Amino acid sequence: MNLIDELQHPLVLIVDDEFLQRLPMRVALEQGGFRVVEAEDGMQAWELVQQERPDVVITDVVMPRMDGFVLCETVRRQEKWRYLPIVLATSLDDVISIEHAYQAGATDFITKPINWGLLGHRMRYILRAARTAQALAEREFELLRTRLEIIRRLGQAAEYRDNETGKHIQRMSHYSALLGRAHGLNAHDQELLLQASPMHDVGKIGIPDRILLKPGKLTVDEFTVMKTHTLLGGQLLDEEPSLLLRTAHTIALSHHERWDGNGYPNGLKEEEIPLMGRICTLADVFDALTSKRPYKQPWSVENAVDEIKRCSGTAFDPNLVRLFCEILPEILQIKATFPDPELSDTDCLSIAMLTR
Ligand SMILES: [Fe+2]
Ligand SMILES: [Fe+2]
Repeated sequence: MNLIDELQHPLVLIVDDEFLQRLPMRVALEQGGFRVVEAEDGMQAWELVQQERPDVVITDVVMPRMDGFVLCETVRRQEKWRYLPIVLATSLDDVISIEHAYQAGATDFITKPINWGLLGHRMRYILRAARTAQALAEREFELLRTRLEIIRRLGQAAEYRDNETGKHIQRMSHYSALLGRAHGLNAHDQELLLQASPMHDVGKIGIPDRILLKPGKLTVDEFTVMKTHTLLGGQLLDEEPSLLLRTAHTIALSHHERWDGNGYPNGLKEEEIPLMGRICTLADVFDALTSKRPYKQPWSVENAVDEIKRCSGTAFDPNLVRLFCEILPEILQIKATFPDPELSDTDCLSIAMLTR
């Protein structure tokens, strides 16, 4: 059967324990141009869904072994069958049963007694609507995936300019999400942190190579230029309608602010600094300290944690430092999950270089 035949003659799975119910349904649907397979209960239907891959299912509700509701739930548990249209043929037309049907994952329902003359048209309409919904959902997913990928690569492009590994942004974004969870952020905000924090240094794209790639300590003037990467990142991500990019804007602007007010670009203090920015600051510095870079050896975890504790209340939010220490085992799991590729040994430089 080729694709055109399949579209013209969709395969319908009829599920009913009574032969005398299946028979007129089969006749009506075959007259409507459908191909038909039949099952006597939900259990057999679930096997046939997997074997025959029907285009649409019409099922009775009350059946032995597995009823129509459980069949719906079983099918929907598998991502693969998320969009398979399932129509419940029911004489239970009370609100509770209908609600139960939709909760179980039914696409639609038909009340008994069924109008056999209209059944084929109704099933085609349901099938078409389900396919349109699937196509829309897939396109939306693809758009979202593409947008996230562009954002990820934009962040990575900025990191590649002064850090030869792309793993830094993966680690620091996961550290940030973990720290957000420890702070009590909900799952949605944790996801925002995960997706937005990779862009914290996106403004480095606008910093001249002679400064960004300078191996030694920056002069005062050079450091003044370097500090503008926060403002450049903020400008790059400004006036964005999407919450994700607005969060990225906030992080790009605030990830070098310090708890004591001596950070940049705005010298914000304590809780004036947006929480997302405070979280990313800590995650970013911990990863910079414990990573090997072309110009330095990694610090040990113990030394890095000591340094972070030492800077609690000056560079970092003390509450976040406390939470960070509590979740250190999980942080180290992330660190182990995204290791850097090997770099050649070079000299170790000061922390000042890491926190430019
Ligand atoms: Fe930065
Ligand atoms: Fe960074």
